[in-house]
Amino acid sequence: MCGIVGYSGAQDAAPILLEGLKKLEYRGYDSAGIAVLNGNSITVSKVTGRIANLCEKTADGKNCPGTVGIGHTRWATHGAPTDTNAHPHLSNDGKFAVVHNGIVENYMSLREELIEKGYRFESQTDTEVIVHLIEMYYVGDLKKAVIKTSARLQGSYALGVVCTEEPQNVYVVRESSPLILGVGVGENYFASDVTALVSYTRNAIYLEDGEFAKITPDSITVFDPAGQPIQKKISRITWDIQSAEKGGYEHFMLKEIVEQPRAIKATIAPRIKDSEIVLDETELTADYLRSIHKIVITACGSAYYAGCAGKYAIEHLCHIPVQVELASELRYSNPLIDEHTLLIVLSQSGETADTIAAMKECKKRGAKTLAIVNVVGSTIAKTADETLYTWAGPEIAVATTKGYTTQLAVLYLFALYAAKKMNRLDDETYGKLLETLITLPKRIQETLDMNSAIPNLAKKYHTTGSMFFIGRNTDYAIALEGALKMKEISYIHAESYAAGELKHGTIALIDEHQPVIALCCNDSVMEKTMSNIVEVKARGAEVLAVTFKENQKIVSLADDVIFIPKVETIFSAAVEIIPLQLLAYYVAKENGCDIDKPKNLAKSVTVE
Ligand code: F6R
Repeated sequence: MCGIVGYSGAQDAAPILLEGLKKLEYRGYDSAGIAVLNGNSITVSKVTGRIANLCEKTADGKNCPGTVGIGHTRWATHGAPTDTNAHPHLSNDGKFAVVHNGIVENYMSLREELIEKGYRFESQTDTEVIVHLIEMYYVGDLKKAVIKTSARLQGSYALGVVCTEEPQNVYVVRESSPLILGVGVGENYFASDVTALVSYTRNAIYLEDGEFAKITPDSITVFDPAGQPIQKKISRITWDIQSAEKGGYEHFMLKEIVEQPRAIKATIAPRIKDSEIVLDETELTADYLRSIHKIVITACGSAYYAGCAGKYAIEHLCHIPVQVELASELRYSNPLIDEHTLLIVLSQSGETADTIAAMKECKKRGAKTLAIVNVVGSTIAKTADETLYTWAGPEIAVATTKGYTTQLAVLYLFALYAAKKMNRLDDETYGKLLETLITLPKRIQETLDMNSAIPNLAKKYHTTGSMFFIGRNTDYAIALEGALKMKEISYIHAESYAAGELKHGTIALIDEHQPVIALCCNDSVMEKTMSNIVEVKARGAEVLAVTFKENQKIVSLADDVIFIPKVETIFSAAVEIIPLQLLAYYVAKENGCDIDKPKNLAKSVTVE
């Protein structure tokens, strides 16, 4: 939800800001802007739409001379996506400019107060109160004004602030929104995430909530909320530049789909030593695991659906009840959670506001929290008691693919690890399942290799206005994610349904205009789902089935079949989802959709 960048150095700032914004565009892309300090004036350029428009308007930055600046790409919350509502926002006296990612929850009362004091508002944004507060509190010292302003704000914010009176300095503040400082030589940076920094530096400082910093060309000074300087560790960014670029693929989404075997291998392999799963990043001891009464998994969107698939593996292997809860519901549900609950929190970005809130609520009630997160140093990773990273590398396409499957991979690792520690699994079964887990990347590669017909299937199905995804058990968990992929990137209405539920009402909708994607990869319920295929066929639906290549019986039932290699049911979701990702991708491509940046969405959902 919005990306922010900043630079202070010796080079022209605008081209660096624009490059950074291009990398952050996946976070929000309805409008964008930059502010560059040039002597004692600030040049602001803002446009509605994509960064490309901003590059055009500024002649790739040439129209905005100056070596210090800040930039923003927006996902509108308060106020429509217009030039006026785009950031940066300027103070009435033109001396200060601010970019903001997050939400100022008390902006209404602050706005009234500032209007009463004579400040003039140009936009409908919550952000504009920040720049007027800074102007109000500024008495020759920007640091003090930033401290006083931050103390007035409630909500989440990562801020970048510049001022004509201190033309070399950029101030940044972090409170519940991501912000990373990039340490260069004779130049320094900040950004919402490392993808905007890696082209310039691999040395990063991760700010904690409440901390703020002064960035100049030669120094970065970090302060605690009271304004005392503090020492911070410089971390090395390990993500490479290529992994944040398209590398010859037409879209990031396709590149990320194809990267899944590598991403899953990178997630699993380092955690297996001498035929044992070793999770030494955590303190999930046998004694602790034996003491818990239940596991609750919480997340949003696809991460929630990964939890739905993971539940089967954990319950099956560990024999412990697993509840999967939407974070946006859990946070307000007065949950029955105590010190005997292990809360597993799934998040690719590690910054999802609802997930953070649900985690904090459950921590308050005594639960131990285990985060499964992709972004190193993210809020969820830092807040959780234990963290297991998914090593997917940067995921740029808004619709998650490798983020989702690497979450599954960690859930499978955890399930097997915990089952062993809890003495719920004999050595032979453990060994066999571990072997299956190790070969998952291979199975996924085979799936990618054997599905060259999917672009043609997309040509057949792309004109429909609506489709159903059905399955039972693990197949139902995949139906949920498959339908979401289809909806979000192709804009085709897609409904996921537990196959056995169709006859309780929904089958009334089935006719020749509703293609049904039937998932049949779970041996224990395969025959049942095949009966459901017969039922929907009898009502005129075209059926596209996904099944193991051994299940040739299905060929005579379905209109089209996508085959995948046979995989142990509890781990099959990670393979079964691959053709559905590809189908959604090629259907969206047929329909000319903006695949990497679907309308109305943003990659990192830092608002409630
Ligand atoms: C869908 C998608 C979203 C995210 C959800 C949670 O393709 O990407 O549904 O899964 O917004 O995001 P994270 O995992 O970053 O917490």
